[in-house]
Amino acid sequence: MNKKVILSGVQSTGNLTLGNYLGAISNWKKMQEDYECNYMIANLHTLTIRNNPETLRNNTLNLLALYLAAGIDPKKSNIFIQSQVPEHAELNWVLNCYTYVGELSRMTQFKDKSAKHADNINSGLFTYPVLMAADILLYQADLVPVGEDQRQHLEITRDIAERFNNLYGETFKMPEGYIPKIAARIMGLQDPTSKMSKSSSIPNDSIFLNDEPDVIMSKFKKAVTDSENIVRYDTENKPGISNLISIYGAISGKTNAEVEKEFEGKGYGDFKKAVAECVIEELRPLQTKYKELVSNPEYLKQIYVEGANKAKEKAEKTLKDVYSKIGLV
Ligand code: TRP
Repeated sequence: MNKKVILSGVQSTGNLTLGNYLGAISNWKKMQEDYECNYMIANLHTLTIRNNPETLRNNTLNLLALYLAAGIDPKKSNIFIQSQVPEHAELNWVLNCYTYVGELSRMTQFKDKSAKHADNINSGLFTYPVLMAADILLYQADLVPVGEDQRQHLEITRDIAERFNNLYGETFKMPEGYIPKIAARIMGLQDPTSKMSKSSSIPNDSIFLNDEPDVIMSKFKKAVTDSENIVRYDTENKPGISNLISIYGAISGKTNAEVEKEFEGKGYGDFKKAVAECVIEELRPLQTKYKELVSNPEYLKQIYVEGANKAKEKAEKTLKDVYSKIGLV
């Protein structure tokens, strides 16, 4: 039986949050039994902002270590670094010529990022979704597990694929998004109305995967709540407590109702402490493994070299087909 193909990736911008973990990477691990999984480190996408080269190099390897520490098993899933598979950049160019400026102009992420980095609105930022389309289409992916914020990028990927297929015949598999509900739901601890973000400027808003236990505890204790003192899920009126319920539920596997029941008659103090403790325990093995892995660059190198070779084999096939269909000699 042929397994369905998955491709996903995260940018190597450092400092992943609990939101990235619960929304994406922790789900990837669960998928590796049932799917043919390709997990990429999107270091080319990272170039759309200015990076210190040494920092980018370290962030890339650290993200690889994090994938492994989070339980992505290189024997089951293919893990690779985007820049090491040149087909991504090659297909990116071709697809650029099949993508309209008009449709790229409608991307909300482009608008948001342009506003944030007004001094560096580069062409790469504009064509970012095309490179993402290339990432996905090269592997003939069936499913792309990502967070809610990437939905529009998946839609444009499908539009590009369909346009190309209509012109040249069946070339690309039509990918579907696979967007877990939880991904959209992990919000900032200080501003529970916006997504927990790597780059939040509000102190104590985000839990980072490498936060020490006492830091995690203190951030949860400071989390914004409300004055009702009842653990009840109600995103409208109680966004802070609802977010904590989501986090607790995502880790313990409990439904909102089960969490409400567990904390019936208990105050926010007890609840926050319990949430912090379950996050600390969830991250503890990951943090231990991560520290081991980053101190073993030889092992990391072996993983990414093998990963790139395997990825290249698949990507090459698609790219050859594309080149031949459009008439590149
Ligand atoms: N744009 C994605 C993000 O910021 C990262 C990414 C790049 C990606 N290429 C991809 C995700 C391909 C899924 C598939 O999260």
